[in-house]
Amino acid sequence: MGHPVQERRRDSVRIASASTPAAARPDGSGPSSPWADKRAFLSGFLQHPREVGSVIPSSPWMERRLVRTAALAEARTVVELGPGTGGTTRAFLRAMHAEAKLLAIELSPVFRDHLAQQQSDPRLIVQCGSAEQIAEFLRLHKMPAPDVVISGIPFSTMPAAVADRIAAAVAEVLPPGGRFVAYQLRPHVARFTTPYLGQPSRSLELLNIPPMQVFCWTKRPTAAPGPQG
Ligand SMILES: C[S@@+](CC[C@H](N)C(=O)[O-])C[C@H]1O[C@@H](n2cnc3c(N)ncnc32)[C@H](O)[C@@H]1O
Repeated sequence: MGHPVQERRRDSVRIASASTPAAARPDGSGPSSPWADKRAFLSGFLQHPREVGSVIPSSPWMERRLVRTAALAEARTVVELGPGTGGTTRAFLRAMHAEAKLLAIELSPVFRDHLAQQQSDPRLIVQCGSAEQIAEFLRLHKMPAPDVVISGIPFSTMPAAVADRIAAAVAEVLPPGGRFVAYQLRPHVARFTTPYLGQPSRSLELLNIPPMQVFCWTKRPTAAPGPQG
């Protein structure tokens, strides 16, 4: 049986084609300011600590490492799992090609609304739902197989069955040569993903609170269709 919160939210799928730009106030406290992001993120963590998994958003160093690891400048279809309040999303959009598309899948409707309110980039689609539904959402938005999937969702605090379904769903939608980049404090994501995509490369970003491991898988043409042994 699925995680009750995740099951409940999967039913409330809504689409926001992020079209409502919102300017920061002169004091920097407006909806698109870094402080508004941090406040909204902390409030989301306090309400759903296991799903959000971190008290503050990723650092600029972390964002740059993800952009490099994912080779985002070369990608044309990108999926972000767990954009949160959108710091990573904005960094990805800055690095992406003008013709590229980014599908951001966020479980929290509050974070989804926060992100949709402050982003007007026509390359971005913000989708409320679970990462398990990645194939369904790509079909819904008529998007091709992604060149890269980037995940900040906390595999260590979600039920094992959900984590396994997400790893399987990511492996299924990636084409040969496609990348899966996941950043985590703990290595659980590797335990769930390696059976589907093989061994990842790893790096460590110390300039982040907390320091994060960054895993990168590249799907091989011969990747196993399911868990081995
Ligand atoms: C650690 S935060 C990462 C936020 C942002 N990407 C960053 O790096 O600052 C994890 C995010 O994943 C979202 N999340 C957790 N489980 C999810 C799931 N199954 N599907 C989609 N998003 C999920 C949480 O709501 C939260 O926004």
